[in-house]
This record gives sequence, structure tokens and C-alpha cells, in this order.
Amino acid sequence: MKALVYGGPGKKSWTEVPDPVIENPTDVIVKIDTTTICGTDLHILKGDVPAVTPGRILGHEGVGKITEVGSSVTNLKIGDRVLISCIKSCGSCINCKIGLYSHCLGEEGASGIGWVFGHLINGTQAELVRVPYAENSLYKLPDSVTDEEAVMLSDIFPTGFEIGVQYGAVKPGDVVAVIGAGPVGLAAIATAGLYGAAKIIAIDLDANRLEKSREFGATDTVLSGDSSWLQKVMALTDGAGVDVAIEAVGIPDTFTMATEIVRPGGHVANVGVHGKEVVLHLEKLWIQNVFVSMGLVNTNTTPMLLKLVESKKLPAGKMVTHRFTFDQFLDAYDTFGRAAETKALKVVITK
Ligand SMILES: NC(=O)c1ccc[n+]([C@@H]2O[C@H](COP(=O)([O-])OP(=O)(O)OC[C@H]3O[C@@H](n4cnc5c(N)ncnc54)[C@H](O)[C@@H]3O)[C@@H](O)[C@H]2O)c1
Ligand SMILES: [Zn+2]
Ligand SMILES: [Zn+2]
Repeated sequence: MKALVYGGPGKKSWTEVPDPVIENPTDVIVKIDTTTICGTDLHILKGDVPAVTPGRILGHEGVGKITEVGSSVTNLKIGDRVLISCIKSCGSCINCKIGLYSHCLGEEGASGIGWVFGHLINGTQAELVRVPYAENSLYKLPDSVTDEEAVMLSDIFPTGFEIGVQYGAVKPGDVVAVIGAGPVGLAAIATAGLYGAAKIIAIDLDANRLEKSREFGATDTVLSGDSSWLQKVMALTDGAGVDVAIEAVGIPDTFTMATEIVRPGGHVANVGVHGKEVVLHLEKLWIQNVFVSMGLVNTNTTPMLLKLVESKKLPAGKMVTHRFTFDQFLDAYDTFGRAAETKALKVVITK
């Protein structure tokens, strides 16, 4: 089969590799119909994730059909159309039992790390992928949900919802600010509405992304490159500060911004993946009674999000800006890698 193989920092190729085989009785093999590229894949390619070693097939998002089933798999069969979750879940360890799939203790990849695809085991940017713990890590798809909609639920929507909106404890009437209107921030914006946020303020450096954020439910937008951005956000809250500040960029400055705009008693939900040291100003924040949360997505809300997509309550398909076929994989990376110029949000690649 062909797959997108990491060759070390700065190197990747769409190349011939051996087909995956069933290794454990709980595995299935999925033939990928639709996949996409995540910002994390770009981090890997820069060499920021040393656990990913040369030869690894990248990708942790995908939709496809089952072609082979391990001997102990009972609720999935050949031909089933499935969503592949970015997080493995053995379903039986103590962390899986409480829905903390991000820390699944199953041995696959590494015990205690839920994100394994395109990281510690071969990923979904391939014609075929082996899925461990398939009964718990795959979701059968209804016909009414398109591949493009579904693939946004592998990572982006659960991440924005669980780590942004749920950890941020958004409640009816809240003013919510989302810093970073990339795919993850837009997913947080779209799902903040589910809890009845009164205002959802999108904050980004990129005017194009701010414009896009309105399609996902942002009620107000603030350009953070503007020297008066802070006053603008405060003016939208009558000077009180926002109830929930969601950080969806992953740099020290934007985390600090979130702590500056949150009201006393409010929540700062960090979603961004930080590669650099970040300062938490406890000397200023302790007296503000704020809650700070962070985490790796669990994907335990995937079945619920899938229902909302099915009932057209979540505009998942709007995330797709560019479409490619497998033989154009390198072009897809190029377009996604130059998002500021190409206005790419999510690029989908199909067989
Ligand atoms: N916690 C998790 O489980 C998890 C899962 C997936 C992704 N992530 C992380 O979520 C973050 C967002 O992911 P994404 O795919 O949407 O990323 P992205 O790079 O596509 O989007 C980031 C957005 O932030 C904006 N931005 C950059 N600097 C800014 C600044 N100073 N002020 C305001 N906006 C600024 C960019 O213009 C862009 O629109 C990343 O850090 C990613 O690694 C976390
Ligand atoms: Zn991802
Ligand atoms: Zn587990």
C-alpha cells in the first residue's frame, strides 16, 4: 500500500510500504477513504515531537471501511463504515473506565498514552491502517453523516468541546472568549453555543479566520494584533472580564492573554499544546479565584457529537476548505502548511 511516511525532521514521502496485518485479536484493519492533516502533524515534521521516529506513518484522523477483523472482535464486521478516533481506548483499564481515554493504560503504543496513531504506532494517512482495541476506538457511522463531516470528529471537535468548553465549564448566559480561531478554536466556538453562551468572542491575528468564526457561531471578533485588543474584549463584557477564556493556540503569549481577560471566578481552559515553558502568574491570579484547566482530548464525547452532526446541529463540514486525492498528498501538506496564504482550515484527502 501507499502511505505518508515521516523521514525525520523536514522529511516526508508518499511511498510504498508493507500492508498492515492483524497483530492482536482486538485489532481490525481499515481501508481509509478520507483523512486529513492536523497542526500536530506539522509539529512532528518540524521535529518537535521526538517520540515520532523516522519510518512512522503519520495521521490520527480518518474514516474508512473495515477489511479485516481480529478473532475477538464481535461488534464490528468487514464492510462497516467507521470513524477512527485519534485516541486509543482499551475499554477496560481504570482510566478508560472513567472516560479518561487520553491516559488509556493499554500496552499498545505505550501504556498511559492515549494518542498513539501517527505517533507511537502507524497512523491514518495511508491506504490501510491497523486499529488496536477496535471495539472501543472506532465508531460506526450512519449513512447520513458524510466522510468529511465525520473526519472532523476524529480529533478537532472532541478537542474543542471537551478541553475547551467542558473543562471551561461554559454555562447559560456566559461570555466566552476563544483565543485562536484555527480548527480547534472554531470547534470550541461551535460547541460553546450548545451550553447557551450569551456571547462568543473569537480572538485571532488573522482577519480571515475571524470572518470564518462567525459561520461557527462567534457573536463578536477581536483582532489580537490590534494594540487595543484587551480594551475591546473588556468592552464586550462591560468591563467585567469573560466568564470563560479558551486558549486554542499553544504559545505563552496567548495563555497569558487568557488569564488577562478572565473575570474573577471565571475559567481559563488551555487547549493549546505548548512546546515552550509557560509562566502561570500565581502571584496575580491567586486572588482572582480563577479556575485553570488543561488536558489531552479523551474523545469520550464522540458518540454525542456524532448525533449532533447527524441532526445538523454542528456545522462540521464547514471546516473543509480544500480537497485532494491520495496521489496529491504532498500538495495537501503544502497547502495546509501555508494556511495564512492559502486560507486553509482543514484539507481533506480522499482515495
Ligand atoms: N489538547 C489537545 O488534546 C489538543 C488536540 C489537538 C490540538 N491541540 C492544540 O490546539 C491548538 C490549536 O490547534 P489548531 O489546529 O486549531 O491550530 P492552528 O495553528 O490551525 O490555529 C491557531 C490559530 O491561532 C492563531 N494565532 C496565532 N498566534 C496568535 C496570537 N498571538 N493571538 C491570537 N491568535 C493567534 C492563528 O492565526 C491560528 O488561526 C494547537 O496548539 C494544537 O496543538 C490540542
Ligand atoms: Zn490532531
Ligand atoms: Zn484503557
